[in-house]
Amino acid sequence: MDAVSSLRERVKELTALHEISKILYSNQETYEQILLKVVSVLVNALQFPEITAIRITFGIYTIQNGNFKKTYWLLTSDFEVLEEKGKIEVVYLKEMPDAFEGPFLKEERQLVDSVSQMLAVYLMRRQREDELKKSLLKKELMLKEIHHRVKNNLQIILSLLRLQEGILGDQKSKDLIKLSENRVKALSVIHEKLYGTADLQNIDYKDCIKELLDHLLGSYSADSHNIRYELDCAKLPISIDQAIPFGLIINELVTNSIKHAFTESAGGSILLKIFCDEEYCTFEYSDDGRGLPENIDLTNPKTLGYQLINSLVSQIDAKKGFCTEKHGFNFFLKFSYKI
Ligand SMILES: Nc1ncnc2c1ncn2[C@@H]1O[C@H](COP(=O)(O)OP(=O)(O)OP(=O)(O)O)[C@@H](O)[C@H]1O
Ligand SMILES: [Mg+2]
Repeated sequence: MDAVSSLRERVKELTALHEISKILYSNQETYEQILLKVVSVLVNALQFPEITAIRITFGIYTIQNGNFKKTYWLLTSDFEVLEEKGKIEVVYLKEMPDAFEGPFLKEERQLVDSVSQMLAVYLMRRQREDELKKSLLKKELMLKEIHHRVKNNLQIILSLLRLQEGILGDQKSKDLIKLSENRVKALSVIHEKLYGTADLQNIDYKDCIKELLDHLLGSYSADSHNIRYELDCAKLPISIDQAIPFGLIINELVTNSIKHAFTESAGGSILLKIFCDEEYCTFEYSDDGRGLPENIDLTNPKTLGYQLINSLVSQIDAKKGFCTEKHGFNFFLKFSYKI
């Protein structure tokens, strides 16, 4: 082979290697699609593409260009991926004049060996990634199954409480049971959302809060008492660990507004504003009711509601505050959601 032809062969090989490495970087395609592309690039990089056929075998896959059949003129390169064997076979479909180095050039043998090594590295990486994806999917499914069970158990607790409420005669005990029912319901609304969400890392809790508010106002027939709410909230990027305490805090605050704020007025409104920047979520809560009684110290509460709020606030590591200058009841929270 003269120098020019030899150089041309070399350029062909390098171009083929470059193209194949590009193909192997794409992970969007199936194994069959990738291997088929490799076969077609490799065929064209050899000396006599028109009479050359290639077959790649690996695991359950056998990929070849249309007219592959085993002939006397065969070049094989083996590879192994995680104990699974694979090989590239190259054949001439017609007899070729005996070249000095046999029917295949030394460069061709090197090219096929390089491609076979590249395939081994690629297939190993791809198999590991596939395994990781599978195990991640399995874990997500297990997690969903657990959330589903939690949700079902909460539903059972809720039914038990409702039964109990139905049996009790006096209104005071019924009211107490109802408070517990609504606390359990708040948990169950969040778990319901978790069960129905495809991406557990990226849940938007805005719908949960809305559902929670609608349920609470419905359960106290707030509508007929002219109590309305307004929710001003963009996407809420908090984690499940924070969503549950946060949901319960909202439950306590809204219950309080419904129960205590509007006793002296013919209705009123509740405003919830939640906004998040790169790191912090700020939650502003207010109602335009009668405001907190003078004698109440909510930093050291004797009642369950605020004891619960205080413990939930420390669970999400939030800063809490009240504003007494404004009219009605005003409360705010600020917490980092990147913990
Ligand atoms: N939005 C509000 N408007 C007016 N008063 C309120 C408001 N929220 C709370 N309060 C007052 O603060 C008190 C303490 O609230 P807290 O939630 O701790 O107890 P509770 O609602 O009375 O009972 P529970 O333990 O069942 O929640 C209430 O009894 C009420 O007097
Ligand atoms: Mg309360």
